[in-house]
Amino acid sequence: MRHTITLIPGDGIGPEVTQAAVRVVEATGVKVDWEQMEAGTEVMTKYGTPVPDEVVNSILRNRVALKGPIATPIGGGFASANVALRKRLNLYANVRPARSLKGIHTPFPSVNLVVIRENSEDLYSGLEHIVVPGVVESLKIITEAACLRIGRFAFQYAVKHGRKKVTAVHKANIMKLADGLFLECMRRTHREYPGIEYEEMIVDNTCQQLVMRPERFDVMVMENLYGDIISDLCAGLIGGLGLTPSANIGETGVAMFEAVHGSAPDIAGRNLANPIALILSAAMMLAHIGEDQAAYRIERAVEKVLEAGEVRTGDLGGNATTTEMTEAIIAAL
Ligand code: NAI
Repeated sequence: MRHTITLIPGDGIGPEVTQAAVRVVEATGVKVDWEQMEAGTEVMTKYGTPVPDEVVNSILRNRVALKGPIATPIGGGFASANVALRKRLNLYANVRPARSLKGIHTPFPSVNLVVIRENSEDLYSGLEHIVVPGVVESLKIITEAACLRIGRFAFQYAVKHGRKKVTAVHKANIMKLADGLFLECMRRTHREYPGIEYEEMIVDNTCQQLVMRPERFDVMVMENLYGDIISDLCAGLIGGLGLTPSANIGETGVAMFEAVHGSAPDIAGRNLANPIALILSAAMMLAHIGEDQAAYRIERAVEKVLEAGEVRTGDLGGNATTTEMTEAIIAAL
């Protein structure tokens, strides 16, 4: 069977790491017709939008995309293309697994958790305005519908992947209404899944527990902003952004897979980026389209290369290039 998949190289190290992921997918023997689409900073300069309609239409048509990072200007300039893509495609669930990898030495050898981040609302609604000069209001939007939707996704994910516990992360002691609604929805959803253990934890304590005893966590579900921050913390626990994959899943099965890291302008275009995060995202993508065997083989090949420890990119303390790491993974397949 052949698959048509939208490919967005993106900015900075994006083209280098997407190229690496494409090579690894092709080495598994899975037949893919890549529909390459341009989005990002250069496209913004050319077309006045970082995400032209044809990119969105391609993903809607193919239902699956593999995406490199897209840069977002800080404090001004155009709004995030990543947020725009997630919104326009209604990719409401962001799934970020973090698992300790053999060969990567960290103080945390037994992390095996998944962060499920609500992707569509919260402070990411971008609703900000200046009330009077010197006073800014930024709106946090939380709805029952989105909370129930992400709650159900988290519990279903736990059931499907044989996981035991869901932890709802919140700050309902302060945001009694907004995070209170989130918690109420999580409790209601839990009643539909009595076989899964459920607990609640305040976000600041969660950070502390994550760096003290990360092995106590299984599936974690949270609003958008907490998810953004906590998932990077979790990436740090297992060895950094160069190793952490993610998926953005929509209601109708549309899905976009990308690394957690950004465009890394400091190392872009120098063949220095670690391609593993995007290669593992591609493995998640293959599992999503029913190519489980190929997905499994990629994960094992990455583990084998890391365990052998001979080929390491700069972020992992070595001096291998992106190409060398890619070729080592292909050889290990
Ligand atoms: P970043 O993730 O691009 O870089 C942070 C640090 O990690 C840098 O030192 C970088 O060299 C290193 N790094 C990141 N990925 C790496 C890899 N694969 N291999 C080796 N080292 C790696 O984060 P930063 O600097 O905060 O953001 C840069 C740009 O990326 C911004 O414009 C930001 O908006 C965008 N961004 C895009 C994301 C996306 O498209 N999903 C996600 C996060 C940031």
